[in-house]
Amino acid sequence: MPPYLAVTMKILVVGGGGREHALIWKLRQSPLVDKIWCTPGNSGISADVECLGSRADDVLSLLAIAERLRPDLTIIGPELPLTQGLADELTHRNLPVVGPSQRAAELEGSKVFAKQFMERHNIPTAGAYGVYDNAVDAYTALCSADWPLVIKADGLAAGKGVLVTSSPDSATAFIERLMEQREFGDAGRQVLFEEGLAGREISYIVITDGERISPLAPAHDYKRVGDEDTGPNTGGMGAFSLEGWLPPELEQRILREIVHPTIAGLAQEGRPYRGFLYFGIMLTANGPKVLEFNVRLGDPETQALVMRMDFDLADVLAQAAAGRLDPQSLRWYPGAGVCVVMAAEGYPGGPRTGDRIEGLAQAAALPGITIFHAGTRRDGDDYYTSGGRVLTVSCADNSLVSAGARCYDAVRLISFSGAHYRTDIGKDRGSTTLGGDRG
Ligand code: AMP
Ligand code: GLY
Repeated sequence: MPPYLAVTMKILVVGGGGREHALIWKLRQSPLVDKIWCTPGNSGISADVECLGSRADDVLSLLAIAERLRPDLTIIGPELPLTQGLADELTHRNLPVVGPSQRAAELEGSKVFAKQFMERHNIPTAGAYGVYDNAVDAYTALCSADWPLVIKADGLAAGKGVLVTSSPDSATAFIERLMEQREFGDAGRQVLFEEGLAGREISYIVITDGERISPLAPAHDYKRVGDEDTGPNTGGMGAFSLEGWLPPELEQRILREIVHPTIAGLAQEGRPYRGFLYFGIMLTANGPKVLEFNVRLGDPETQALVMRMDFDLADVLAQAAAGRLDPQSLRWYPGAGVCVVMAAEGYPGGPRTGDRIEGLAQAAALPGITIFHAGTRRDGDDYYTSGGRVLTVSCADNSLVSAGARCYDAVRLISFSGAHYRTDIGKDRGSTTLGGDRG
């Protein structure tokens, strides 16, 4: 038994999406774990572990659950309870936790804070044009904007509060939705205008105990709803993680120019960071630049990454929570992990729910396929859709092409009325690596 563990662990996972289902799938493989609870979970997770009812945004009830169970480790999946201070409350009660404090979580909770933080610490990012707290000023600023323009709601909007556009009409309509109709509530009280960057995007996620940093394997997320990156942004429609994708010199540059200054800057500002930190990075012709921070694992990146994890996740997370992360602990299976999200009709807008899902058992029976649930509801032996991103199909194999092909074999066996998914996950990247003139 490692020294920071007295006995096998009881773990509480907070969240109820595909990301949490994937984490739990991996945690269940650990001999160090003897009990896992999840709150609120979902109907796929409840087939694997005990789920406890609570809303992911109800910190008081999450806290009451944690106090009653006294888990050896709590892993907070989604951003909302982190920005509401759940990790701080658990720490005050001596409950070990993976997830940053409320002050550190502001990196995701406020895009204006994140931009100013990057400016303070010289972290490369898209140039900021302005911050507006009323629609009239924002409309006026459009008259002198450079295009393409990026408009961002300051607060949390489930990946849907960003518009990249060259159209003044679309920009005007988006500002109206954010600031006048308040489609994302208070998240749209302020908006940030920034420079549009071109390049390839990577999801670079690290786990840190505040001092030591272990990068996860880099991943790529497909954010737009449609093939070939068309249509509106979503929370993510699929992802891959591919061995050798990010050239080592480019990774070193990301660590040197972005990751280390971020962790050090947070500590210096009295916001020490512990947990997963996700850097959304654009590889531009002028080097890597930060698009966004997430104070958590990505969804669906996690559903691709867990397929390649060749280490004991429970052990690594216990190390991080105890402030004694061993950066040598992470190992990755070679080849590729791929995942494809199946979404409900209407997503990323208001999804239609209640459609019966067919073919789950046949798809899950295919070799190497794992299905992670998100928006599903179980009734007897049947599953029905209950959210926008319904489920994720994941697979690992020795190449991106074969892992992707195996995912799609499974996806084609699953059906529900209005189902849609991207058909190009992993396909356009072949076995190429990044870098070259971009780094
Ligand atoms: P964010 O929530 O800030 O990551 O934005 C969501 C998505 O919008 C990113 O993953 C990018 O695809 C896109 N995006 C954000 N900022 C920019 C930018 N400055 N230039 C180009 N695309 C961007
Ligand atoms: N897939 C991007 C995110 O989790 O925000």
